[in-house]
Amino acid sequence: MELELHPSTGFDNSARDYEHIEALPLAAAMGAEIRDVQIGKLTDAQFAEIEDALYRHKMIFFRDQDMTHADQENFTLRFGDFGIDAYTKGVPGHRNVQPVIKEADTRIRMLFGSGWHTDSPFMETPPAISMLFGADIPPYGGDTMWCNTVLAYNCLSDTMRQVLAPLRVHMTAVGVVSELQKEAKARTMAGQETGGTGFGNIELDINTNKMVAGWYHPIVRTHPKTGEKALYVDQTYSHGIQGMTPAEAEALLRFLKHHVSQPAFSCRLRWEPKTFTVWDNRICVHQAFNDYDGFRREMYRTTVLGEVPR
Ligand code: SIN
Repeated sequence: MELELHPSTGFDNSARDYEHIEALPLAAAMGAEIRDVQIGKLTDAQFAEIEDALYRHKMIFFRDQDMTHADQENFTLRFGDFGIDAYTKGVPGHRNVQPVIKEADTRIRMLFGSGWHTDSPFMETPPAISMLFGADIPPYGGDTMWCNTVLAYNCLSDTMRQVLAPLRVHMTAVGVVSELQKEAKARTMAGQETGGTGFGNIELDINTNKMVAGWYHPIVRTHPKTGEKALYVDQTYSHGIQGMTPAEAEALLRFLKHHVSQPAFSCRLRWEPKTFTVWDNRICVHQAFNDYDGFRREMYRTTVLGEVPR
């Protein structure tokens, strides 16, 4: 087998010199910690620099945030309306704050967010930005990883970019829905009360037919604010290419799925209680790990409504 080399050029995740916040890059490819702010007490000047840092680093995180669900909602609304990819009924009094919880004694094959993915690309308007607040965190395990899909695009040859330019990818939740159905069946057979479709402790409120029908989106999308081009392919939801036979699409997608989620394009976050993360869902893929059985993990998710990818 041929030795696989990582790309060695094109990395620039250096921090800008901000006046109201401090940004500390996490990895060469992407990610930065933002210091000197409390999300619940932001000034407009701090918010402007945070928005700039988000577009630059693709994923930003804040430690030691004393924030409430209302603070998370208000921060989310600074970017735009709430996303419409609500999977649960929210938490009492906060319809748009989605609990993402796994109890210590829960055992599941598929975790919410496992597998490299971009959030809800099977919708016409996937969320632009996603946010996650960590309330209760395992002592180890339960990390999240992201990959920078602008960097992945920039590391393709000009010829491959020309091949991809006119293509549209079919984004569908067919694989996820099938796993959820298997899980529900296994629980019923084991005599456990399921109460519906869900990922372990997360009871979902979803229209599976719409999720499976999915949507076709450009395989190369352009960021509406920065003009950057990014590969819009993931390992979870990308299942075909318009105008190609399944075998042709499968061959191209196999290469792209591997390419987009290479370690060289990634960063990995070790959570702590009260860590808050924000990522630009248009230009990165991410995954959560199902490696903390025996420990509880309690997170709260919000999203910002996105546009039709172009
Ligand atoms: C997600 O995919 O939105 C969840 C990520 C995580 O739980 O770490």
